[in-house]
Amino acid sequence: MVKIFLDTANIDEIREAASWGVLDGVTTNPTLVAKTGRKWSEVIQDILALVDGPISLEVTTTQAEEMIKQGRQLAKLHKNVVVKIQMTTEGLKAIKALSTEGVRINTTLIFSANQAILAAKAGAKYVSPFIGRLDDMGQEGMQVIREIAEIFRNYDWDCEILVASIRHPLHVIEAAKLGADIVTLPFDVLKKMTQHALTDVGLKRFVDDWQKVPK
Ligand code: G3P
Repeated sequence: MVKIFLDTANIDEIREAASWGVLDGVTTNPTLVAKTGRKWSEVIQDILALVDGPISLEVTTTQAEEMIKQGRQLAKLHKNVVVKIQMTTEGLKAIKALSTEGVRINTTLIFSANQAILAAKAGAKYVSPFIGRLDDMGQEGMQVIREIAEIFRNYDWDCEILVASIRHPLHVIEAAKLGADIVTLPFDVLKKMTQHALTDVGLKRFVDDWQKVPK
């Protein structure tokens, strides 16, 4: 079944989604942490305490040696930490080194199937294609998911497709139809997935009619 992650650093959103019983993990990035206005270390401690599933924390350096050092420190924080590394040649070196040591890596900023192939070959546990940002510039993001899914099916790679930069519920349906392993969602997209106008109408009728039943 497709796993659902929240793409946020907002603790209230994570707490709410976790209470619904459908949250499998969390992805963060520097932009999302900056939005909270809180200290990075406090945000991360809160997330790790709330969710027992993979929590992606991104390195903030761009040279392999520094990424490896930072990745090791992040991985030491908690067993659930997944180190998020950018899809660059320096990133590939860091993915190879850290994955060889047993650190789980989520490769971020993936925009093509070729980049996903390289990340998987280097040893990444997850590849994160950003479909919304491709859609934003007029290229069909879901086509990249289609290609990666087809390619990964051909090989025995232990690498999961984590669909990122999701903009709306239709992206979730399309990704799941293609067999993507994970979707990481802004909270508003997850909330929209719970809603349907006919559910509201139907519920109101049940509640009203129950009042008419002699008790
Ligand atoms: O966290 C990575 C990705 O999901 C970011 O999405 O909305 O900034 O394109 P977005």
